[in-house]
Amino acid sequence: MTMFHEVRHAQARSVRQRLVAHIATGGSTDLAPTVLRLPARCYTDPTQWAAERQALFEELPVIACLAQDIPRPGDRALFEVAGHSVLILRDDDGQVRAFRNRCAHRSAQLMRPGDDSGVRRGRRIVCPFHGWSYDLSGRLANVPGRAGFDPQTLEDCRLSPVAAAEKDGVVFVRLRGDEPLDLPGHLRGFAPVLATLELAAMSPVQTSRLDARTNWKIAIDTYAESYHFSVLHARSIRDAYISDVAAFDDYGAHWVLTFAERALADLVGMPEQKWPEARHAGTYFIFPNTVLVAGDIGPNGRFVRMFRIFPGETPGEMVCLFSVHIAGLSVECYQAKFGTIDDSKSDVTLEDYDVAEGIWSNLAAAGEKPDLIVGRNEPAVQAFHRAILDRVGLPI
Ligand code: FES
Ligand SMILES: [Fe+2]
Repeated sequence: MTMFHEVRHAQARSVRQRLVAHIATGGSTDLAPTVLRLPARCYTDPTQWAAERQALFEELPVIACLAQDIPRPGDRALFEVAGHSVLILRDDDGQVRAFRNRCAHRSAQLMRPGDDSGVRRGRRIVCPFHGWSYDLSGRLANVPGRAGFDPQTLEDCRLSPVAAAEKDGVVFVRLRGDEPLDLPGHLRGFAPVLATLELAAMSPVQTSRLDARTNWKIAIDTYAESYHFSVLHARSIRDAYISDVAAFDDYGAHWVLTFAERALADLVGMPEQKWPEARHAGTYFIFPNTVLVAGDIGPNGRFVRMFRIFPGETPGEMVCLFSVHIAGLSVECYQAKFGTIDDSKSDVTLEDYDVAEGIWSNLAAAGEKPDLIVGRNEPAVQAFHRAILDRVGLPI
């Protein structure tokens, strides 16, 4: 058992006390101080959307992958979102580096989404067009037909770096600007929480992608409350959770939300010494766009389901990258618990994205539109929009 196992366990115990207290009152939940009203143009205004794409997705660190996606020197991954294509790799020293996925010769893409494992690892990055190759620090290593180029020109040719850093098993990149990533400044009080998840040990077992016709923020809103569980998810997860009962912990722009599993109702009125051991489970949000559903299965197993939501090419398009990562657990065990391994095809996902596309249709329709109302019982949705308000402001 690691020190962090104990920390997660203690956290799970204290959150469970809060949830059982909510259930004991007949179903209260952690509340925001006031209701928040959001003008429809927060989602639809093209200028606002462009400002968000720049201020949140290009100027802030975003999660490119987890450490175990590229465990050994030479391993690489492709990160293609929001109009950027970036190569993430681990260099000879074990450090994470990122480069534009663009050859210095005539701008061919060095890696494509369907590339096999031969292209995804090795000490040389070889361009598929004319075969220029680069070492893991991005330096030009070999040029076939070198006589066709003068040495002066080749001297300046290297891969174009993208700021990248690894922290507690998470690989972050920043898509614009040269200065190093300031992860402490970005994560602030959330950094110790991220460490407790021990993501460095989590191996990837599944990835998928979903393109939806909605705004990226509408999609994130659906992950940030359990108020809708009993209605929208009446056929999927309603029986597993008590709707509209949740513990909310705010870390500035980042937050943790713990939903009330229905089994907790059995603990109401029971002396705490008789409660079974608490099991860690929570929904973690890393601003601006990543939801991590993390938890324990059995004595040693841990999982994380990662949902990264990005703006697409217009305010009404978005992409969600899904992935599942496990440690101390077989894939079969994971599937037995969740019924599926591909979150992009689960009933819950289809239900959420169907509603999210419908919301977008209404907001994008012509005519006057009333504000959206975010309840006191939706504190994480409020925190998300307030964090955007802080950084980008409201559309005029
Ligand atoms: S474009 Fe890469 S080698 Fe020509
Ligand atoms: Fe949902």
